[in-house]
Amino acid sequence: MEEFDHLLAEQVERYIESLFVPPDPVLEQNLANAASAGLPDIQVSPNQGKLIYLLAKMLRPQRILEIGTLGAYSTTWLARALEPGGKLITLEANPLHAKTARQNLAQGALSQTVTVILNDGQASLRSMIASGEKPFDVIFIDADKPSYSAYLALVLPLSRTGTLIMADNVIRNGRVMAGKPTDENARGARQFNTDLAANSQLESIILPIFREKLDGLSVSLVR
Ligand code: DHB
Ligand code: MG
Repeated sequence: MEEFDHLLAEQVERYIESLFVPPDPVLEQNLANAASAGLPDIQVSPNQGKLIYLLAKMLRPQRILEIGTLGAYSTTWLARALEPGGKLITLEANPLHAKTARQNLAQGALSQTVTVILNDGQASLRSMIASGEKPFDVIFIDADKPSYSAYLALVLPLSRTGTLIMADNVIRNGRVMAGKPTDENARGARQFNTDLAANSQLESIILPIFREKLDGLSVSLVR
């Protein structure tokens, strides 16, 4: 078997990007602002942004939920998938991330479309469930990996038949395949993947995603 060629994978990424993800001033400014604010450079890649945008758009969504805002890069992609008048709620636990995200959303003219909730993610989800929040059409999980299984359990009551649930970073360069991964992020993602596979309410798959290393995006449809 041929060895995995990282340089080739990187070139293929650039090739796909050059064809389908044209330069976008709002997204470029978003990344520049996040870098200036000192946020970690761990947002989804441009190609993955386009992918989650396209998958979301196929559902003609009015309501999108995101867990883990960071600088609102994926948020901006997903907000663009909304039908006119649609709304996105994004949950962020880090005050600097939330502040940077709000500034970026303002610069992208998305302040009226997107609400950033600054709080512990699980606490936000529990209060949304308690207050009878209507189900979401699309849900994107991209926050602390050890909480992924808890997030999955908490987003199911905020879903309906046909809701699309996606989660980032579920492969962690293959570390999720270890029986007991030593790093807590891989361990959390592995438990999440096991839960997804065992959940008879969901039809699921994982797409391998290349961003410097090999990672993955889970895609699930609620029955
Ligand atoms: C990392 C990447 C992510 O997309 C994320 O959500 C969290 C961490 C990382 O590469 O460490
Ligand atoms: Mg991620």
